[in-house]
Amino acid sequence: MGAGEFGQEGLGPTIFPVGLGTGRLASLGAGYSKKDALQCMETAMALGINLVDTADSYGSSDCEKLLGSILKEMGQPMLVSSKAGYRFCDLPGPLGLFNQVGKKILNKFGQRQCFTPRYIQECLEGSLRRLRTGRLDFFFLHDPTESALMDDKLTETLLRARQAGDVRFLGIACSPKSAEKLRANHPLGTWVQTQVNPWSSVEMAGEKWSGGSIMANHVFGGAKVSQYMESLQGIAREEGITPRQLLIGFGLQQSGVRCVLVGTGRAEHLRENVEATKKKLSERSLAALRAMTHKNS
Ligand SMILES: NC(=O)c1ccc[n+]([C@@H]2O[C@H](COP(=O)([O-])OP(=O)(O)OC[C@H]3O[C@@H](n4cnc5c(N)ncnc54)[C@H](OP(=O)(O)O)[C@@H]3O)[C@@H](O)[C@H]2O)c1
Repeated sequence: MGAGEFGQEGLGPTIFPVGLGTGRLASLGAGYSKKDALQCMETAMALGINLVDTADSYGSSDCEKLLGSILKEMGQPMLVSSKAGYRFCDLPGPLGLFNQVGKKILNKFGQRQCFTPRYIQECLEGSLRRLRTGRLDFFFLHDPTESALMDDKLTETLLRARQAGDVRFLGIACSPKSAEKLRANHPLGTWVQTQVNPWSSVEMAGEKWSGGSIMANHVFGGAKVSQYMESLQGIAREEGITPRQLLIGFGLQQSGVRCVLVGTGRAEHLRENVEATKKKLSERSLAALRAMTHKNS
C-alpha cells in the first residue's frame, strides 16, 4: 500500500497512509520533552510520514507552540492539520506555564466548546501564529454541535478563510455517527476526521461509506485493544504482524480512509506503525475482525 493521492478536487500533494497524531505530545503527565518531540518528528519524517495532526486545545495551545518551534527548526517540511471548537487557555509570556491548569478550570466552570464564527476565526488566526505558518493544510471543526453545522455564517467564514489562502482543506472532526449524517453534502464535509476501528466500524460500516475523504483516528479503539488482545493476537499471528499493525491495516482498508492518525512519542512504535502500511490484510482477517466485535458487542 503506497502513499495515496489526496485533495478536495482530486488534486493536491501526496499523503502517507500513516499520519502522526499529537493528542498527548505536549500534555502534562505524558512526560515528553521538546527533545523527545523533535526526535519523534525526525523519525516520522525519515520513515516517510508527511502529515502531523494537532488541535489548538491539545495541551491547551502548548502542542501547537511546540510543533511550531519544531517545524521552524526543521524548515516546515510536513503537512499540518489542526482543529478548533474547544475552549482552551493561551496565556501570554511566562503565564503560559499555567495554560493546561487554566483549561481544566475553564472546562469545569464554563462552556467547553464554542463555534461562533468570530471565535473560530480567532482560533484559526491563533493556530497560524502558534504553528508559525501562513497557511494550514487542514483545518477541522472539532466535534461541532448540530447547530454549528447548520450555521451558514460559520460555513461562510471558513470558506472565506480558504479563499484567502489561510487554509487549504476544510473538514469536520466528529463521531462516526455524526460522520454518517454528513453524507448529505455538507460544504465542510469533504474531509472528515473520525474514529475507525473494528468497534466503531460497526456503526461506521466502512464499506457503505460514500461521504468525503476520511482521516481516521482512534484506530486502536482505546481500551478495546487490551480487552480484545487475545483475539487480535490470533488474527495478527496468521497475518505475520502485530495486533496494532492489524488495527492500522484494518483502518486503512476501510472505504474512504485516506490515512490513519496514530500518536506516539516512541521511535520503535513509529516504525511498527509504518510497517503496517506494507501489508494488505486478507478478506479472512477483515471478516474475523468484524465477527470478533459483533460477537462481543
Ligand atoms: N478529532 C478528534 O476529536 C480526535 C480524537 C482523538 C484523536 N485525534 C487525533 O488522532 C490521533 C490518534 O488518536 P488515538 O485516539 O489513536 O490516540 P493517541 O491519543 O494518539 O494515543 C495513541 C496511543 O497508542 C500508543 N501507541 C502508538 N503506537 C503504538 C504501538 N505501535 N504499540 C503500542 N502502543 C502504541 C501510544 O503510546 P506511546 O506514546 O507509548 O507509543 C498512545 O498511548 C491523536 O493523537 C490526535 O492527533 C483526534
